[in-house]
Amino acid sequence: MTYIGNKIFLFDAVKSTQEIALSLVRRENNRTKNVIILSRTQSNGKGRMERKWHSPYGGLWFSLILKPNIESSMITIFPLIAGISICETISEMTEITPKLKWPNDVLISDKKVAGIVIDAELDKHNTSYIIMGIGININFNINKITIENFEYKKDDKIQTYPITTLKDENNNNEIEINKFLGILLKKIDKWQKEIKNNKKVIKKYLEYSHTIGRRIQIFDNKGAINNGMACNIDNYGALVVKLENGKFQKIDSDVSIRYIE
Ligand code: BTN
Repeated sequence: MTYIGNKIFLFDAVKSTQEIALSLVRRENNRTKNVIILSRTQSNGKGRMERKWHSPYGGLWFSLILKPNIESSMITIFPLIAGISICETISEMTEITPKLKWPNDVLISDKKVAGIVIDAELDKHNTSYIIMGIGININFNINKITIENFEYKKDDKIQTYPITTLKDENNNNEIEINKFLGILLKKIDKWQKEIKNNKKVIKKYLEYSHTIGRRIQIFDNKGAINNGMACNIDNYGALVVKLENGKFQKIDSDVSIRYIE
């Protein structure tokens, strides 16, 4: 029987664990299931929407290869599972209460502490794989990393996304990373067994939601496309938004959102 993390490839420095995991899936076959690619640093970490992800020493940067036996419509549940599992792990190991900004930014005190990127691939035998890339800022202080790639333009001014680390939020106390990883993998394993029970996943996700009830602006790669009120999460993880014209729209995770103060 294989279980999550039955095989961990540990590196000191790579470009991106996500890229390594993707190439492994493309090259290998069914043996790849449940493997983790983990690196202490990444020089070219991959974020959502083609953003760069800073990955200095002290963080937890890994990609988990899963081979779920599900219909493709259920793939959108995986980012939620990853977000819930990270929140539960942080809650178990610290006194901190994290929140989830849709679709899956983990926030502490309104600042981003972890991010998730999901790639889905078909291997050469047409088996579908999920590559769950997880990055968590753990044992370093935020002033140690450059933040130029967290910049975005608003009203022609450069703004930065507020980011933080668990150490910064935990009175400068470090967290035992191996223990954190062990708990996190167990949570992911528990929640992926519930994948077909998506209503239960959504219910738990909503307990951590930072987004529902807020006014938001919706962005694609080219810029702002709409404004509205975040109302709910549907059974597949899409955000239900009441637009300013009164119509409801479901948005999925190929866009990003910003809050309107
Ligand atoms: C986001 O944009 O919020 C998602 C960030 C995901 C970063 C992780 S770090 C480990 C894995 N390898 C990568 O290159 N990216 C993901």
